[in-house]
Amino acid sequence: MNVIVTKDYQEMSMKAFELVKKVVTENPSAVLGLATGSTPLGLYGEMARDHRENGTSYRDVKTVNLDEYEGLDVTSDQSYVYFMRENLFRHLDIDLKNTNIENGRAQDPEKECARYNALLEVMRQDLQVLGIGSNGHIAFNEPGTPFDAQTHVVELTESTIKDNSRLFARIEDVPRRAFTMGPKNIMNAKKILILANGANKAKAVYGLVKGEVTEQLPASVLQRHPDCTLVCDEAAASLL
Ligand code: PGA
Repeated sequence: MNVIVTKDYQEMSMKAFELVKKVVTENPSAVLGLATGSTPLGLYGEMARDHRENGTSYRDVKTVNLDEYEGLDVTSDQSYVYFMRENLFRHLDIDLKNTNIENGRAQDPEKECARYNALLEVMRQDLQVLGIGSNGHIAFNEPGTPFDAQTHVVELTESTIKDNSRLFARIEDVPRRAFTMGPKNIMNAKKILILANGANKAKAVYGLVKGEVTEQLPASVLQRHPDCTLVCDEAAASLL
C-alpha cells in the first residue's frame, strides 16, 4: 500500500484531489467510485473549485456510490444520494443520469442488490474513493463481513450508528439498516484511494496498513489490492 501522510485535513484533501484529477484527465469517461461522510468533503470541495476555475469536465464521467440508508431516498436530506447531489454533483457538469447509487427505498431489497451488482460488473471503478470507520469498516461493511460479499443489506452496528448520529437530529432517527457494496465490489476497482483524518481513526488506520488481514477489520483487505493509496493526516497516522 502506498501511504501519504499530510500535515492536516486540507493537505489530505488536496493530495486526494490531485489523484482524482489525474484519473479524470487521463480518461474523461472514467468511472469514479464515490463515498459519503465527512472525510471526502474537502476533496469534493476541491473538485468543485477546480471545475469552476479550470473547467475540468465531468460530462462523460460516471459514478457509482458505495452505500445508502435503507428507507431513504433523495427526498430526505439525510440520504446519501442527497449528500452527493448537494456536496458534489450540483457543482460539476456531470449528468445525473450517469450517477449511480443503491435505491434505499427499493420495494425488493434482494432484487436491488442484484441490480447494483450487475451494474458494477459493467461499470468497473477506475478509481474508488473510500473513507474508513473508527471500527475499520469500509462503506457499511462492518467487522465480520466476509471479504467475498457483494452488495447486500446490513444491520448497522451501534458504533456506526453512534458515529453517524451527529448528522441526525436524534440518534433514534439514524436508520438501522443500509445497502452497501461488499468488499468484493470494492476490491474490483482498478485503483483505490482511501482517506482518513483525525486521531479517532488512528487505530483503524494502523489495522489498515500494518494489522493482520482479517474480516474483523474490513479495511485490512485493501492490503491485498495491487493499487491502493492511503492519504491521511498526521493525527490518523500517529500509530503507524
Ligand atoms: P466519516 O465516515 O468520513 O464521516 O468519518 C467514514 C466512514 O464511516 O467510512
